Amino acid sequence: MEKLYPKHLIGIEELSKEDILELVELAKSFKEVLEKPVKSVPTLKGKTVVNLFFEPSTRTRVSFEVAEKRLGCDVINFSASTSSLNKGESIKDTILNIEAMKIDAIVVRHSLVDLPRYISTFNSSAIINAGDGAHEHPTQALLDIFTMIENLGDLKGKVVLIAGDIKHSRVARSNIYALKKLGAKVRICGPKTLLPEDPYILGVDEVYTDMDKAIEGVDVINNLRIQLERQKKGLFPSIKEYNDFFGLTSERYERIKGNALIMHPGPMNRGVEIDSKVADSKDSVILPQVTNGVAMRMAILYKLLGGRG
Ligand code: CP
Repeated sequence: MEKLYPKHLIGIEELSKEDILELVELAKSFKEVLEKPVKSVPTLKGKTVVNLFFEPSTRTRVSFEVAEKRLGCDVINFSASTSSLNKGESIKDTILNIEAMKIDAIVVRHSLVDLPRYISTFNSSAIINAGDGAHEHPTQALLDIFTMIENLGDLKGKVVLIAGDIKHSRVARSNIYALKKLGAKVRICGPKTLLPEDPYILGVDEVYTDMDKAIEGVDVINNLRIQLERQKKGLFPSIKEYNDFFGLTSERYERIKGNALIMHPGPMNRGVEIDSKVADSKDSVILPQVTNGVAMRMAILYKLLGGRG
């Protein structure tokens, strides 16, 4: 199969360790730019990027828009709800029409697994996957890796716990792929109903259903959002019980305080998968993750569009 990266960024699965580390280095230099009084480097001036979000998003959408503007791109935010998709136009025709306007990149989020890869087969602009169903969320994993490296250095041998709804999580999947490429040890924990049938196929090293045991000896805890609709499907008994058995509670935090980085991709359900005291603790890098997201998305856009005429 033709390698899509660095023409497109569809998933972490197709990136090498060197590709990931190169993006981390680029993100570090863009982060320095973001800390200056004038926070822009118009290296992509004249490039046009369309943000095509078919699912709700706060962090990813705004972060891409900020990154694009910091690099001097012209930015178009496509609104699916007011587009001709509502008149029966297909996604393919919508994309072909947008591309006919001579744009350079499309950032796409959709509930359909593999839609970004499908778009890349008939479209010549750069496609960036901003989350496709339960498949991958590569830019989230890259900003997570950047944040871990920034705080812990080399990730080889580091123990990273990903806790929560692993089965339905594109963030978990992309993080597992990236962490394994960098030599980290990946642990997952959650109710059996929210774990993949065979997590070892994804590259996971250890599987836990007991959060008290899972948090022992970890360097990072990446806590995932519990989608409240899963409870209606009977995948766990109640929010209170989820918090008691699997939440990163204040009591559990007391046992690992000072030794583990606390992460969450957002949006957070405070009091469900993570207690407020933990989310706002000195070990939490939840907001720095968001800051790093802008630098990482600048790095990705620069890598994909920087060398293009
Ligand atoms: N982490 C993440 O993808 O958040 P949004 O859904 O707000 O973009």
